[in-house]
Amino acid sequence: MSRAAVLTGIGAMVPDRMVDNDEISTLVDTNDQWIRTRTGIERRYWADPGVSTGDLAVEAGRRALESAGVDSVDLVVMATSTPDQPMPATAPRVATDLGLGNIPGYDLSAACAGFIYGLHSATGAIASGSCERVLVIGADIWSTRLDPEDRATAIIFGDGAGAAVLRAGDPEEPGAFAGFDLGSDGAHKDLAVLPAGGSRQRSRGEPLREADNYLAMRGKEIFTHAVDRMAGSSTALLERIGWHTSDLDWFVGHQANARILNTVADVMHADRERVLLHLDRVGNTSAASIPLALTDAAADGRLQPGHRVLLTSFGGGLSWGSTALLWPDVAALAPAPRT
Ligand code: ACO
Repeated sequence: MSRAAVLTGIGAMVPDRMVDNDEISTLVDTNDQWIRTRTGIERRYWADPGVSTGDLAVEAGRRALESAGVDSVDLVVMATSTPDQPMPATAPRVATDLGLGNIPGYDLSAACAGFIYGLHSATGAIASGSCERVLVIGADIWSTRLDPEDRATAIIFGDGAGAAVLRAGDPEEPGAFAGFDLGSDGAHKDLAVLPAGGSRQRSRGEPLREADNYLAMRGKEIFTHAVDRMAGSSTALLERIGWHTSDLDWFVGHQANARILNTVADVMHADRERVLLHLDRVGNTSAASIPLALTDAAADGRLQPGHRVLLTSFGGGLSWGSTALLWPDVAALAPAPRT
């Protein structure tokens, strides 16, 4: 029998500082009513000065290791687009802070789709026999990269980190990842971009423009691509693994905008009641969004062992990816306050 990667632990966290829609309305020209009705977001959490993405990742990783009941892994895969610095990667520092020894660790950049890409990498490492256990982390701090004059990004993004421990196991057991569908489209790379610190921006030889330091997102176009790609990727994956939309207990999409997720459900003829929502309480946490949503739903009992769960994500790149699993019996702590 082939070796599968099996989810055996999960954990997530958000920083302490809650930022509600009224506070956002003091920063840009918007209001609580608009943000709620157009995105579904009510609040998000922003990291305090001095806190880095790696700091959040360490805490999420610690919680996932506790959930799995283990204190060692063979590899750390860290999905982020807001690393502690462009070089070195953040993963080695996270591994060291978690006391994991001199194991390999690397960063992976696939924007909001990063966590699914991380699961795919970890699954490959386990299937090859080179690793027995892998820690996959998705973490981002976008709050420090938001243009103070851009209401499209200011209303959406929150900071956070989520992590999962995968172990070698049996393809038939709960928690085994049933397959993956991944894709990218560089023709639309400019729809969500952060130029500062990259070689293209440096090689222009022009002085850094203030705007280069901020995430620029063409929201309406991203919206359309997000619907098309998440629906297309989910459908392709379900066909490949022999599941039907009607089999799904939970549809867990990237948490950027509730209208995007509901539209994907409609396109797939899925029941909107099956769409797992967490963005109301944390906003779009980029690579952390899927593990944050899963951890929250496992902690409050919405996700039950044996549930059929589809994960799908989409982000800048463009990058997208989907996977599916029968939910295993894993312990989880709520990552954010419920009220
Ligand atoms: N507050 C109040 N009014 C607003 C706001 C705001 N924050 N933003 C736009 N408006 C107004 C506009 O001016 C416009 O008014 P008009 O009709 O009088 O001209 C109207 O609201 C509609 O504006 P749109 O830009 O069409 O707003 P839209 O419904 O597209 O919502 C949003 C904008 C929320 C950004 C949406 O496009 C979205 O969610 N996009 C996807 C984001 C996403 O998925 N990001 C993840 C990938 S990014 C990454 O990977 C890092």
